[in-house]
Amino acid sequence: MKPKIFVTRKIYTEVLLELKKNCEVEIWDQEDVPVPRHILEEKIPHIDGLYCLLTENIDKKLLDEAKNLKIISNMAVGYNNIDISAATEKGILVTNTPGVLTETTADLTFALLMATARRIIEADRYLKEGHWKTWSPNLLTGQEIHGSNLGIIGLGEIGIAVAKRAKGFNMNILYYNRNRKHEVESSLGIHYADLNSLLKQSDFVCVLTPYTPETKNLIDKEQLRMMKKSAILINTARGGIVNENALYDALTSEVIWGAGLDVFEEEPVSLKNSLLALPNVVVLPHIGSASLNTRMEMARMAACNILQALNGEVPQNLINKELACT
Ligand code: GLV
Repeated sequence: MKPKIFVTRKIYTEVLLELKKNCEVEIWDQEDVPVPRHILEEKIPHIDGLYCLLTENIDKKLLDEAKNLKIISNMAVGYNNIDISAATEKGILVTNTPGVLTETTADLTFALLMATARRIIEADRYLKEGHWKTWSPNLLTGQEIHGSNLGIIGLGEIGIAVAKRAKGFNMNILYYNRNRKHEVESSLGIHYADLNSLLKQSDFVCVLTPYTPETKNLIDKEQLRMMKKSAILINTARGGIVNENALYDALTSEVIWGAGLDVFEEEPVSLKNSLLALPNVVVLPHIGSASLNTRMEMARMAACNILQALNGEVPQNLINKELACT
């Protein structure tokens, strides 16, 4: 008998066919609507594998209903949506999709940095709305990018890829990370700083750290107050790392100059969120890894992880590695 899996969103046909060759597949077949919780609860006791997205909250309560579940394959690099310790306790493997989205997410991070600093979105709107009367010395002046100081919070693969891009813009790069990365420091010519020094010295602060209980509200009122008045905060990691109320206050009282946000505490962000009304904020709907190629690679990788696990192998991108030896 083929193992049973549940896929929580419409995915690429090619990937779905590959899964169907090996498994009995049920799918929440909608493009833009996450699977309702009650459907997930209904499916979970009967499946061997779950193929899910970062929109699904895989908490302990849900996992308590799992009877045969062997693998949760998250089609994302971040996995803060999954209670890893509850899964591990139950012997359920959890996998993610690292690597394949690194460069694409770094591209988007840099694009957001540039769009915010040079007011690209505002300028586009200005022209299209017919405000452009003449060239003018102060028209839509922004912040310098080349030669400025970039502070990277979280020097994982994406942080390193952002640093490489910043080198091309002659930026001076500081980073803050749980562990120092001496080799990367010398190969890229970047410097370690503690969080406070990084915040004080940077013209751009890029948040690229995973979202964990330790990084929740890592950037709060106190941290924003340490930043330069001309500084720009970029967040392409997870919304909860930056306190949105504190950010709103900082942006409206000239504590910092601007922000570029691809992620929010609540997603999709409410149109009532006051950050959306600010001219010095560029917002995106969590599209860091959204290129056609990368999303296809992520989907394939998530499928590969689930198939490996159901085949009794250790999946390539296992997060709870302690389960590999059991
Ligand atoms: C996207 O945010 C991901 O974690 O892959």
